[in-house]
Amino acid sequence: MFGVQACPVHVEVDVSFGMPAFTMVGLPDAGVRESRDRVRSAIRNSGLPFPSHRITVNLAPADVRKAGAAFDLPIALGILAAEGVIERRHIADLVLLGELSLDGSIHATRGVLPIAAAARRDGLSGILLPVSNASEAAIVTGLSIFPVATLTDAVRALNEPAGAAASPAPVPPPPMDHVADLADVRGQLLARRALEIACAGGHHLLLAGPPGAGKTMMARRIPGVLPPLTFDEALDATSVHSVAGLLPAGTGLLVHRPFRAPHHTISDAALVGGGSLPRPGEVSLAHHGVLFLDEMLEFRRRVLEALRQPLEEGVVTIARAARTSVFLGRFMLVGATNPCPCGFLGDTVRACRCTPQQVSRYRDRLSGPLRDRFDLTVEVPALPLQLFGTATPGEASARVRARVVAARVCQAQRYHGHSISTNAELTPSLIRTYSEIPPAAHRLLEEAVRRLALTARGYDRVLKVARTIADLSGQTQIGAEHVAEALQFRML
Ligand SMILES: Nc1ncnc2c1ncn2[C@@H]1O[C@H](COP(=O)(O)OP(=O)(O)O)[C@@H](O)[C@H]1O
Ligand SMILES: [Mg+2]
Repeated sequence: MFGVQACPVHVEVDVSFGMPAFTMVGLPDAGVRESRDRVRSAIRNSGLPFPSHRITVNLAPADVRKAGAAFDLPIALGILAAEGVIERRHIADLVLLGELSLDGSIHATRGVLPIAAAARRDGLSGILLPVSNASEAAIVTGLSIFPVATLTDAVRALNEPAGAAASPAPVPPPPMDHVADLADVRGQLLARRALEIACAGGHHLLLAGPPGAGKTMMARRIPGVLPPLTFDEALDATSVHSVAGLLPAGTGLLVHRPFRAPHHTISDAALVGGGSLPRPGEVSLAHHGVLFLDEMLEFRRRVLEALRQPLEEGVVTIARAARTSVFLGRFMLVGATNPCPCGFLGDTVRACRCTPQQVSRYRDRLSGPLRDRFDLTVEVPALPLQLFGTATPGEASARVRARVVAARVCQAQRYHGHSISTNAELTPSLIRTYSEIPPAAHRLLEEAVRRLALTARGYDRVLKVARTIADLSGQTQIGAEHVAEALQFRML
């Protein structure tokens, strides 16, 4: 895999007379070399013949490092073909992959969706792979799929392909029952409104408030408010999860937007991706979904800075001597933070014990350029005690989601033909085209620029959010009231 691009590897097996030996060439890493022991045991324990001669396996192209256990199955089948167990003469039109267990059973492997897509692109006819990966491969149409559970199955599938091809039914998406409902959140009307606007326009959102105010609680309810993935978005998201080995067995296409919430001790490589054989990071796993950084100011500064490339470009590029891997990473960033080190700045009941210097040093951890990325910032005050007792539930996620979906439809129609689908993605020139404002709103904004010392970027951000607020109320024209509301969600 290079990023989420699969590149085919040809497995050649030669069995010749000589002292029994099993050598592997073609830049296999240590994991691939261990394949020898699994292959030998799996063949023997399946009651199939294992040659007592010299075996040489070559993995081509030789200049690309091979990793992972998926080469077990093609190596074993190559040996069995040399032994005459496989009658079929040509198997080079099939992709073969799977990890073998010592008893001959076949385990799931990662990266199946991008591999199937590459097989289709290269004009191959089918793919022989572990049963538990079959639904994932079936997302790509036009390939014959041969799901196998054991090495013996695989031999049979090659010798009698007619009976072995399957068309796995698409797995029904799992319900989203693990996501809690916004109905549980009492009060916090301003924060709830900010959350709705952020979801409607795909805007980055920062929640600031004292401990216990419900920031984490609200952020975790965002997945229940976002619209489902479109087909193309789902393909991208599923590919990344597949390469990372995070697709549950038997899954087809992902349907829910990913929600990733890494702990603040995460390394920069784990956040944006890395490694000698580059793996996607949290940023890419959150592609088309949400990256939630709880206690955002507790993250190491280096880690936060690493977010800048993906935030600007929507991709992560990892350069290695052999090749460069590119991972997509366009996500909605949601941050939660205390307003100061002790957490009680601005609290009406408890007093803040921090000095002004401590407060400003704390906020400086969120560097200017990163802070500038949040389209919406909202203060989440501690819930007044009397509200805790009231039983009136808040509005349910399903109702908020219906408005969000409607606003997204407006945006998708408006930006049809451009390469964007949400207001958050508007470029400065598209803002001029699509976020025209009437004179009254313009005066309001000019005044705000003066009073709040808005930067050019800050000005554009207000327009984008105003555009989303207008879309939520079903209005084609942005009005002064939309601009006024957008101005409320400014950096503290
Ligand atoms: N607005 C609210 N409505 C209902 N429960 C709340 C609210 N705010 C806080 N709570 C309760 O307090 C707990 C702690 O909230 P949490 O989200 O962890 O706060 P924070 O992340 O702001 O420190 C929640 O699990 C919830 O039980
Ligand atoms: Mg919290």
